[in-house]
Amino acid sequence: MNKKILGVLALSFMFNHTLAHAAEVQQLPASKLSGGQPLMEAILNRKTIRDFSDQAIDNQTLSDILWSAWGISHGNKRTIPTSQNKQNLKVYVTKADGTWLYNAADNRLEQVSTQDLRALMAKQDFVKTAPITLIFTGTDAKNSPMHAGSAYQNVGLYCASKGLGNVVRGYLDREAVEKALNLPAEEKVIITQTIGWPKK
Ligand SMILES: Cc1cc2nc3c(=O)[nH]c(=O)nc-3n(C[C@H](O)[C@H](O)[C@H](O)COP(=O)(O)O)c2cc1C
Repeated sequence: MNKKILGVLALSFMFNHTLAHAAEVQQLPASKLSGGQPLMEAILNRKTIRDFSDQAIDNQTLSDILWSAWGISHGNKRTIPTSQNKQNLKVYVTKADGTWLYNAADNRLEQVSTQDLRALMAKQDFVKTAPITLIFTGTDAKNSPMHAGSAYQNVGLYCASKGLGNVVRGYLDREAVEKALNLPAEEKVIITQTIGWPKK
């Protein structure tokens, strides 16, 4: 191969590499840590909603949802308790522009797949069009599901307070999602939570 072709190949590699990196991170606005409904009202108003409008979820609301689920609130600890503070939970969000891992420390989303998994995991039609679905995973078979339960309850309360709809969903092909995300064998999909604005 002559030097000119090698040069073009190197440039093209660098260009693609830069583009791939440019698409990998979405910085979130700082979570809004005040306001909302009084706790007892939010508990009273929490309920499952499966009928969503096609209105998008703005990044501020997304940031607040993710912080409720799995944010850092005291020291390096989380908004939910975890067994021995091992923090064995991961929270992904799948939406029209791909699937992202929530990095709470840096308050950002890191792209793990360009694939929108909503249709793959649907089994119930509303999941395909509701703006976001959270995917909770963990590597601790005993404790990670409890952590996921705490996280989805926090999100459920946030949604009630904010007037958002949400539904916790276990009706999905977990292995298909694990495969699509190329998860390591020990990391398992526990449960999902679909969120959107209720249809008026
Ligand atoms: C672990 C778990 C799994 C669930 N899976 C589904 C599901 O796959 N699809 C669905 O439509 N609702 C699902 N739900 C929602 C329940 O049906 C709902 O919480 C229940 O009917 C009580 O209604 P409420 O949330 O309004 O109190 C699930 C809830 C939990 C806690």
